[in-house]
Amino acid sequence: MSFERAAAFAPINIALSKYWGKRDHERNLPLAPSVSVTLAELGTLSVVAPSEELEGNMMVINDKAADAKALVRVGRVMRTVREMAGTEVRAGIRSVNTVPTAQGLASSASAFAALAKAATTAYGLELDDQELSKIARLGSGSATRSVHGGFVLWRRGEEDDGSDSLAEQLASAEDWPLRAVIAHIGVGPKKVPSGDGMRLSADTSPFFSAWIDTCFTDVAECLAAIAARDFERLADVTESNCLAMHATMLATRPGLIYWQPATVAVMHAVRALRAAGHAAFFTIDAGPSVVVLCEAGEVETVSRTLGGIEGVVKLTRTRIGGGAHIVPNG
Ligand code: PMV
Repeated sequence: MSFERAAAFAPINIALSKYWGKRDHERNLPLAPSVSVTLAELGTLSVVAPSEELEGNMMVINDKAADAKALVRVGRVMRTVREMAGTEVRAGIRSVNTVPTAQGLASSASAFAALAKAATTAYGLELDDQELSKIARLGSGSATRSVHGGFVLWRRGEEDDGSDSLAEQLASAEDWPLRAVIAHIGVGPKKVPSGDGMRLSADTSPFFSAWIDTCFTDVAECLAAIAARDFERLADVTESNCLAMHATMLATRPGLIYWQPATVAVMHAVRALRAAGHAAFFTIDAGPSVVVLCEAGEVETVSRTLGGIEGVVKLTRTRIGGGAHIVPNG
């Protein structure tokens, strides 16, 4: 069998109802389902080049050799792809991010969705996007959702082997063309990576089991809001789910404080905009930056408001976009 170099791009996604808690740390199986939107433009380009001459996988991320931790996660994805393709041939892998790594902007989501797409293509596997999402999940839980564009549900699944823990599209970007303004609040890499943080919250946060219960009702609420294209309803559930996750993080021991003063200032500013009739709401992952989702006519007002807040170092305007795809000649 001959294999061919393949390049794929995958975008970042931001969860509306979040994933914070695993039932299996090896396979990245979640304790609860989650819902996200995939954002256009920002993401990762991954190039996979199988070669008979390599003794192990070689990996470069943003022009630097990958560290041991990244190699373990990449190895999990690549081993599964090799097993499915029935080969021992290793690959050279290059990954380029257009989003700052480890700042709570889901760079691992786009990285592993792009890797799954490029690797399965390079090794000649033809998988639909739901199957592909399971392979992306082995690298990073949130990557499960970045395989698809638009509004995405990651099913918790019941099986121990993860065969039913996959992502599916709920609505496309065209179905509900919301916009996003990202307020980048930079203070270097986050201190506790999400996997370690989840473990710590599960072990020590007194709110953890209530948080997991909340996710089930919030996901149902998100599905209803998305099906009805009900902006207010989606705004309410997204903000409250985000705050419930951060409450669980804050109550972890030692407390996981991902916010900076500017994070809180952005939340208040967005709340004030909405109270004044502007269709905008916020959400925040495991980092200080804030993603504001809004209707197209509100992008200017949101940008002007966020741009005036001290500590917001950069704004990115984007929209809901498509999922992972092959880049010909990439
Ligand atoms: O995929 P991970 O392990 O980086 O976890 C992501 C966790 C959050 O971004 C905080 C929430 C989510 O659902 O994306």
